Amino acid sequence: MPSSTPAAEPDTARPVDPEIAALPAAEKVALTGGADFWHTHGAPSLGLEPVMVSDGPHGLRSQKGEGDHLGLHDSVPATCFPPAVGLAATWSRESAAAVARAIAAEALAEGVSVVLGPGMNIKRSPLCGRNFEYFSEDPHLAGEMAVAYVRAMQEAGVGTSVKHFALNNQETDRMRVDVSVDERTLHEIYLRAFRAVVTRAQPWTVMCSYNSVRGTSVAQNRFLLSEVLREQWGFEGLVVSDWGAVTDRAASVSAGLDLQMPADAGAEQALAAAVEAGKVPAEALDRAAAAVVRLLRQGAAHRDERTGYDVEAHHRVALEAARRAIVLLGNDGILPLAEPDAAATPGEGPQLAVIGDFAATPRYQGAGSSHVNPTRLSTALDAIRGIAGEVPFARGFAPGGTEGESAGDALREEAVALAGRARTVVLFLGLGEDVESEGFDRTDMELPAAQERLLEDLLAVNDRVVVVLSNGSAIRLSPVLRSVPALLEAWLLGQAGGEATAEVLFGRVNPSGKLAETIPLRLLDVPSALHFPGERGSVTYGEGLFVGYRGLDARGTEVAFPFGHGLSFTTFAFADLALTEQDGGLRAEATITNTGRRAGREVVQAYVSVPDSRITRPPRELKGFAEVELEPRESARVAIDIPAEELQVRDVRSDSWAVVGGTYRVELGASSRDLRLSAEQQLAGDEPVVPATVDTTPQEIAARPGGEALLEEFLAGSAMFEDPDMRTMAEQIPIGRFTGIGGYEAAEIRAFLDRVNAAS
Ligand code: BGC
Repeated sequence: MPSSTPAAEPDTARPVDPEIAALPAAEKVALTGGADFWHTHGAPSLGLEPVMVSDGPHGLRSQKGEGDHLGLHDSVPATCFPPAVGLAATWSRESAAAVARAIAAEALAEGVSVVLGPGMNIKRSPLCGRNFEYFSEDPHLAGEMAVAYVRAMQEAGVGTSVKHFALNNQETDRMRVDVSVDERTLHEIYLRAFRAVVTRAQPWTVMCSYNSVRGTSVAQNRFLLSEVLREQWGFEGLVVSDWGAVTDRAASVSAGLDLQMPADAGAEQALAAAVEAGKVPAEALDRAAAAVVRLLRQGAAHRDERTGYDVEAHHRVALEAARRAIVLLGNDGILPLAEPDAAATPGEGPQLAVIGDFAATPRYQGAGSSHVNPTRLSTALDAIRGIAGEVPFARGFAPGGTEGESAGDALREEAVALAGRARTVVLFLGLGEDVESEGFDRTDMELPAAQERLLEDLLAVNDRVVVVLSNGSAIRLSPVLRSVPALLEAWLLGQAGGEATAEVLFGRVNPSGKLAETIPLRLLDVPSALHFPGERGSVTYGEGLFVGYRGLDARGTEVAFPFGHGLSFTTFAFADLALTEQDGGLRAEATITNTGRRAGREVVQAYVSVPDSRITRPPRELKGFAEVELEPRESARVAIDIPAEELQVRDVRSDSWAVVGGTYRVELGASSRDLRLSAEQQLAGDEPVVPATVDTTPQEIAARPGGEALLEEFLAGSAMFEDPDMRTMAEQIPIGRFTGIGGYEAAEIRAFLDRVNAAS
């Protein structure tokens, strides 16, 4: 179907409000587009003012006046919280909520009614340039973080715009790439987190993505914007376009879009003409206008005359989230660094040296439309010096190799000389904005060669090198990098990341972050690798359900660090798992004990599998998690609820969600590959029984309620069934084919099918 054809069917999901129907047509049309870059139109006949929207998601990027999209760095100062990559590594709903509440306060202070976030697309490939803005490769974790964020922000009176709906999992060709994806993968992986946030948190707005899905641009995709979002999930809010995603406003409004952003005078005129010509269903225009009016009312109801907020307190919120986000990947005992040792001993070399440009010029957020102009910025170098005194520093490299080869050599040599004198080195490595950003994908997963070289040279003179990484998505960890005595993945941590990193290094904070994305050994191990980013404007999600750890586990592929991994300076024991059925879902309870000598936080993860599954499933999937903070020797009983919705799969025969009956195994662990406890529970499920037809096989009939006995009776005496060698083959032949090969009459088969259908 040509994507510019307006959908004929009107959207009937909601009755039209008479007040909206009575608005002048020109006013309705105007409401469906922005007034400028960041403002909607108001509704003068209803006395409603325009509202302002701003990026998001990890801090406010509010531009004064009409705003200039290209001036990405020109926004009012705002607290820069950890971007989604860091926030998700906390696995803390509480942190997501605290950050969202603080951003909401800043939005209200700036007169902003909607924050354009959170970004919640699935990290299908580590190469996606915008992974820093997304939560996880796992839909459950992405959904939980988004639900917490959206609820907290909206309870504080500021709307959200969950984005980018949907299947915007790459930056290559993002404006036009067409995604092919099978039905189960679409619902179970890529729409699942959006479904969770819509059904559980009702975001004020959903932002539709730039790309196309199955041949139709999302901005004109009736299936996604109307059927799935509104009719199946009951979305009550407004669908806004990503900036510049709309090419034909009439087609978009007809399909389910409510608001085109930013302003586009030509599109407004074209829509007016299409409405005049009767090409846009009246209900569709009314639905869109009603959604904008509702948003204007929501904005007006929460408009706050106060200006300003507690900058200091918000910095502390950013700090607390950053503390929880740091993932201790490996540690042979060198960490935490002992504070007294850090002081220089007179006459000897320094106890500690800091090397790496990112220590002084931190990489703390991603590049593109989410760029925040921070209120403060801590550096790890200053924070380390705040704890350990005058620690010497060498840059070691210039990010992006901007300063030329000889300058790079000089920086490395200076760093090696320093490392040779120091007892311990903390080395800051990572990716610069030149390789990861909105708007383009990475071409590999490598750390820049100059940094690998620096690490090798430092290790040649000092084997006590602790590495801290700053990057927005997984990088390949070379064998040398994996061999260092301690490795911290600090992702992008926002403006307080420097303090948080220093506190973890010295053990003032016990690390507790967990990987929200697998760190594979190499790019080609990633299940999507051979299907990313597609070609000539189209991409096929050929790995299907097997995204990230789902595919890696299915193949038993070794990884550098598995999904969910993250160490602590203490240890936790898991015991006494009790698994019960609860409202068609499951409840797992276990006792977690801090068995070490420091207080710490553990994230207990629940993975579900169905050992004898009749349908294709990954070996295990995250379906619940809980965080617990424990003092040394303290124990707590931790409960994880896994509602039936989490266990549902998409039944493609009936186009609905269902829990397949069977034995469910729940494994509790400290990562997806560190599973400590396991238990099983039988669930009846609620799979719809689809009518048996001539294409149904004996095997399928036997699995239906009452089917087995009827089948045995029907096929008694059949040579094929009595012969044990042929039975397996016969069980898989559609029952209608038994006319020729089995000698049955068609009428007999029909009567048998009637009995089978009557029994279920
Ligand atoms: C981005 C969105 C962003 C919008 C407004 C687009 O280019 O994809 O995430 O909210 O610009 O800045």
